Amino acid sequence: MWNGPQKTRRRGSSKRSPLHPRAERQTADLPITPKRLHTLRAIKARAIMQAASSARDLPISMAERLIVALDVPTVAGAQEIVAELDGIVSFFKIGMWLLFQKHTDALIDDLIAAGNRVFLDYKMYDIGETVKRGVASAAGRGISFVTVHGDDAIMSAAVEGRGGSDLKLLAITVLTSLDDAALYDMGYRLGVADLIDLRVRRAIVCGCDGIVASASDDPDRLRAAAGSDSLLIATPGVRMAGDAAHDHQRSADPQTAIARGADYLIVGRPIVQAADRAARAREIIAAMELGRPAA
Ligand code: C5P
Repeated sequence: MWNGPQKTRRRGSSKRSPLHPRAERQTADLPITPKRLHTLRAIKARAIMQAASSARDLPISMAERLIVALDVPTVAGAQEIVAELDGIVSFFKIGMWLLFQKHTDALIDDLIAAGNRVFLDYKMYDIGETVKRGVASAAGRGISFVTVHGDDAIMSAAVEGRGGSDLKLLAITVLTSLDDAALYDMGYRLGVADLIDLRVRRAIVCGCDGIVASASDDPDRLRAAAGSDSLLIATPGVRMAGDAAHDHQRSADPQTAIARGADYLIVGRPIVQAADRAARAREIIAAMELGRPAA
């Protein structure tokens, strides 16, 4: 049984020296050899990486950073998955598969009442006032993450709707199923990389908490380019070696995704369609651990 969220890691200020004080003391008086220089650079790079995530409150446990997409046709099917993953996964995404199904509302309440976190991936895209009302309703229900899409007016309205609640707003950048050619077909004048950069900048300006982006979009690079360490990044398109990519043009394994700075991994089919879902989820969490930067 899952016993509620573990305490979150609140790391120190990024303004501290990137070197651990002990490392500074130990190395201060030694001559600089090429080998030492290499070691010092490695320590510094690791410390900078850790400091860079200081602005984001992430669960300590990797298991809590895995979001399973309940992409099944019925609420009964979703409940079966939740039961199979009990004690392993505590964050679930509900999207279009269940949006129009009977009893989805009760599923959301039950998940939250049992101490799980819920991500509503409804990719809200409408006039500002409508999005604002939708987001405000989600916030009132105790939802943890919601996806929004659109221009500054839409994203700003979503931020207004969220108000002072704990709900995190994630802006859609470019779906992982889209490539440059698909964007061109849709009339965009930018390719995937440039459009993502633009959307990240606008999401931050509007006050969104994070974005959805693939591992191959390089989450750490996106934060650095946008100058925002506090940007949460949830990453879909996660596949273990040998898994089918399905419709994702940009996918990566869990270890790579975490190593590149993904905060949360969104996994659907690799777990939902597995013969042993619990075993698959454990395997993915173990792979996520391998991507965690060494302390
Ligand atoms: O089955 P799979 O692991 O590919 O599921 C990925 C999930 O992430 C799906 O629920 C999909 O809707 C969602 N998603 C995505 N790309 C985005 C945003 C959400 O694949 N940009």
